[in-house]
Amino acid sequence: MNTYAVTGASSGIGRQVAKLLRSDGHRVIGIDLRDGDVVADLSSVEGRKLAIREVERISEGRLDGAVMAAGMGPTPGRDQTVATVNVLGTVELLEAWRESLAHADSSKVVVFGSNSTTTTPLIPPRAVRKLINRDIEGAIRRLKILRSFSAPATYAASKIAVTQWSRKTAASSLWAGEGIRLNVIAPGPVMTPMLQAQLDGKNSEQVRSFPVPTGGFGDPGKIAAWVGFMLSPAADFMAGSVVFVDGGSDAFFRANDWPAAVPLRSLPRYLRLMIGAQRAASPPRVSHK
Ligand code: NAI
Repeated sequence: MNTYAVTGASSGIGRQVAKLLRSDGHRVIGIDLRDGDVVADLSSVEGRKLAIREVERISEGRLDGAVMAAGMGPTPGRDQTVATVNVLGTVELLEAWRESLAHADSSKVVVFGSNSTTTTPLIPPRAVRKLINRDIEGAIRRLKILRSFSAPATYAASKIAVTQWSRKTAASSLWAGEGIRLNVIAPGPVMTPMLQAQLDGKNSEQVRSFPVPTGGFGDPGKIAAWVGFMLSPAADFMAGSVVFVDGGSDAFFRANDWPAAVPLRSLPRYLRLMIGAQRAASPPRVSHK
């Protein structure tokens, strides 16, 4: 029996993930605003501290995995809360749980990104950098410039930030090097209360007309099945990957954009990383003096 922390476990995809893991005999510590094993508001400092503390207490400092599904969709007038929950509600918790994850033999983490990361135009890169640096207010100031578009832009920026943070973190010695496999799932529109709220809102026509080559909306149970796979030994050789399960929308818009060859301007950085990795891997020199 493994122990998993699942944020957002009371609704939508997180709920399906918790159900799947429990039906496989695992222990799930569900964290949510209501009906969770841990009831915590991840938009507040105290709520995040409570979630961190309670998971460490219940798991006794050993976590086989974590699924970071708690999140808020684009919500006009609540950009700051959306960014806080989506970014700090993921990265602060994971950083605090890192040791517990490292205590398990081969732990797996799945972070929820979104295909809005690659399909939403006009996201200011500086806002994303500020979010990664935990400067939520600074990021919101930049996003406000987009006026009526700030809600979808804040959502997409928050998901770019957690995705980039995850990729960088996943490949580091403290994570990949200590047996933790951290990956991102990027769903397209999935039929959950979050999507339903958008379909019921005033931008419903835009949501409905968004190109999805396969047609229809995703099913939360099937997204949970992908998460289950990403928590399984099948993911032992997987770190920092972003798995798009989005009916083909990202491919529709961005087919030629990535994967992309290393651009010339990135070569110095690329070489620095390569040399650093080679030095770290080479055995220490033995002195014969
Ligand atoms: P949902 O709205 O059904 O579930 C989200 C859960 O997060 C809820 O249980 C909610 O209570 C919890 N949550 C929200 N704010 C919280 C807070 N302050 N503290 C603690 N918990 C909080 O949404 P859904 O669709 O299941 O989304 C799961 C993840 O998938 C989210 O991160 C979302 O951004 C992402 N996603 C969803 C897509 C969709 O179309 N449904 C598309 C792409 C990504």
